Amino acid sequence: MRTPVIAGNWKMNHGPAAAAALAAEIAAGVEESGVEVLVCPPFVSLTAAAAALQGSRVGLGAQDFFWRESGAYTGQISSSMIREAGATYVIIGHSERRGRFGVPEEGFTPDVLALFGETDATVNLKLHAALAAGLTPIVCVGETLAERRRGDADRLIAAQVAAGLRGLDASDASRVIIAYEPVWAIGTGETCAPDEAQRLCEWIRNEYGAMYGSAAAEAARVQYGGSVKAANAAELLSQPDIDGALVGGASLNAADFLPIVRAAQEA
Ligand code: PGA
Repeated sequence: MRTPVIAGNWKMNHGPAAAAALAAEIAAGVEESGVEVLVCPPFVSLTAAAAALQGSRVGLGAQDFFWRESGAYTGQISSSMIREAGATYVIIGHSERRGRFGVPEEGFTPDVLALFGETDATVNLKLHAALAAGLTPIVCVGETLAERRRGDADRLIAAQVAAGLRGLDASDASRVIIAYEPVWAIGTGETCAPDEAQRLCEWIRNEYGAMYGSAAAEAARVQYGGSVKAANAAELLSQPDIDGALVGGASLNAADFLPIVRAAQEA
């Protein structure tokens, strides 16, 4: 039996004061449940959120980090820094870090997009570093609309899983949470149909199984993410291969987020 994980990715929202307030509200609303719940505030808000979550059932994650431990890397944040700030989870390879957005962004010309240059290779470096640091990684994979339309989604997702997890032994891989996030469904209000989300989460599990064996695949957790909200959570979360959700927009206030946690409890 896999424990579902509901993770709130606050993206570039909520500075320290707002993060502490929302974390406290979510902490107060999550009871003992058989569901793992965590929130991922911006780096600068981690410490404030950690204080607000202390003693609660809600975990804390960062949205990214840099794989080197220290050094001349201006603007970067290491695994030990996010750990010291209270995070025990970290999101790796989110499509927005890969420069892949569900809606075209004005002013995001190719030279600007290069600033979001996460690749499968950097995902892999970060995954190794996160596991070595004792963090629980949530690795995001998923296709753009153009990739889906040309029939490339399944192959591309399998390739992202294989390249992202390259070189991990079975024990490390067992600590990895994979999030299937179709890029076209992120922040767009478009949700992947539950049966299609199920098909791709199962596909990811099978790919994982090809690397680590069927018993390991049966234990691995695969989330769905992309416009998850209270209204569609129950149907998505009741799919046999969907083990929770990575939630963006609907994680930004407790009234939207807590019903998703409840849907996971009831699924
Ligand atoms: P969304 O974002 O729920 O706002 O679509 C999900 C994500 O990017 O993790």
